Amino acid sequence: MVGVDATEAVVERGRHLTREEGLNDRVRFVHADACESGLPSDSADFVWSEDAWCYVADKPKLIAEAARIVRPGGVIAFTDWVEGPAGLTDSEAQRFLGMMTFANVEDIAGYVNLLSGSGCDVSVADNTGRFPSHIDLYLNMIEMQLTYDVLRTLGFRTDLLQTLSDGFRFLGDLSRAGKIAQARFVARRI
Ligand SMILES: C[S@@+](CC[C@H](N)C(=O)[O-])C[C@H]1O[C@@H](n2cnc3c(N)ncnc32)[C@H](O)[C@@H]1O
Repeated sequence: MVGVDATEAVVERGRHLTREEGLNDRVRFVHADACESGLPSDSADFVWSEDAWCYVADKPKLIAEAARIVRPGGVIAFTDWVEGPAGLTDSEAQRFLGMMTFANVEDIAGYVNLLSGSGCDVSVADNTGRFPSHIDLYLNMIEMQLTYDVLRTLGFRTDLLQTLSDGFRFLGDLSRAGKIAQARFVARRI
């Protein structure tokens, strides 16, 4: 497998963990923009991502790149944060995108169009329904289990801890209202 990430420190951490797990003969990493990975065309059996493509600004270029890398008959499978069917208001979108440092957010139909437009046959494009319970889990971890560790990473700034908790509560509210969701996609390159 080949991991792609645009942040050198993340790539280094990936290499370190892979060595620790004894998988370095089977997994390698490239430090690159996922929209221009430099990987050869038609070379991968599958392209996989979990909740990370929401950070990539140019979604059309990203999906075209995934479709270029995967071989005909190969699979693109990923989960991502998307706008839900209820839609975000302008002010909700501004707060959501700002706190997550997303340039934009796609929706399910938008990803289906991009995948189809890149020559893929989409078999799964659905809401996992997991968002609200997972946000509750994050909140419980922050407030009940890992408070000291989170505070330490925040330089013991209790005001920042409050901002973080408020942010997660906001995400929980948006997800329960159907305004954001985690979606799962499976598509096969024709
Ligand atoms: C929050 S992390 C994803 C977390 C991941 N889902 C996990 O469970 O660990 C987002 C990652 O996307 C990477 N990223 C953002 N834009 C990118 C791009 N255009 N190309 C490649 N990597 C990118 C960032 O460097 C960061 O490591």
